[in-house]
Amino acid sequence: MADPAAPVFADHVAENRRHWDADAPKWVASGERAWAQTEPTWGIWGVANRELPLLPDDLDGQRAIELGCGTGYVSAWMQRRGATVYAIDNSAEQLATARRLAVAHGVDDIEWVHGDAEHVPQPDASFDFAISEYGAAIWCNPRVWIPEAHRLLRRGGSLVFLGNHPLATICTHPDGALPVGTTLERGYFGLGRLDWTAAAEDPGGIEFNMEISSWMRLFRDLGFDVADYHEIQAPSSAEGVKFSVPATWAKRFPAEQAWVLVKR
Ligand SMILES: C[S@@+](CC[C@H](N)C(=O)[O-])C[C@H]1O[C@@H](n2cnc3c(N)ncnc32)[C@H](O)[C@@H]1O
Repeated sequence: MADPAAPVFADHVAENRRHWDADAPKWVASGERAWAQTEPTWGIWGVANRELPLLPDDLDGQRAIELGCGTGYVSAWMQRRGATVYAIDNSAEQLATARRLAVAHGVDDIEWVHGDAEHVPQPDASFDFAISEYGAAIWCNPRVWIPEAHRLLRRGGSLVFLGNHPLATICTHPDGALPVGTTLERGYFGLGRLDWTAAAEDPGGIEFNMEISSWMRLFRDLGFDVADYHEIQAPSSAEGVKFSVPATWAKRFPAEQAWVLVKR
């Protein structure tokens, strides 16, 4: 008989666990590089935190959560800034890399948790700061994980997350043919669930995105104020194609967005 206390995963959570457990070996090298960095950098183009200030310099005394921590480098950056860190990820294989890198860097006080960022086993109002870089930010249903992040934060706490800009999503062919182009390949309205399990290139995983107005409405209805919204442009020095986005494209259009929210 099934354990009635066992967590019930949404189908995208189960598929994304399968996808990320299989994909984890591809992310070890980039995780190692990011753990070794002293200055945080963000997103596809590695924009420095001083230009894109997503992490405060001082998190001393704050309790922070990373939602979909992957190889754990953002958690390491927060720990070095003084935070007590709780890092949750859906993939045991990604967490194995995170744990190994923590040991290699002499870090023994990050709490690594295997679980679903849509349902975090922590009490209400237990964190001052929450962050996701391409974790829950794109792999979780925003109508579930954003309310969950709101529940977890104390009043005045911040949620920061970075992921694909909806413009890049609609310029990606629905059959997954890459790279991102300059044709509108799908409608903007009703983006929602993006199933890449049958994609022509790099198949696997189910992502989510929304129209900017829907993100805004969700934040307002929950009780988040938007402190900042970044549409990230590739720097003039960027070259080639990274994560399916040509640098030439990302100098003209925003491939990524980052939200900085404060719980009212
Ligand atoms: C691209 S990584 C981002 C994390 C980190 N910035 C990195 O690059 O290592 C995406 C991560 O999101 C995690 N993820 C996907 N769905 C999740 C969920 N429902 N709950 C927690 N983590 C999830 C995956 O397991 C994966 O490790």
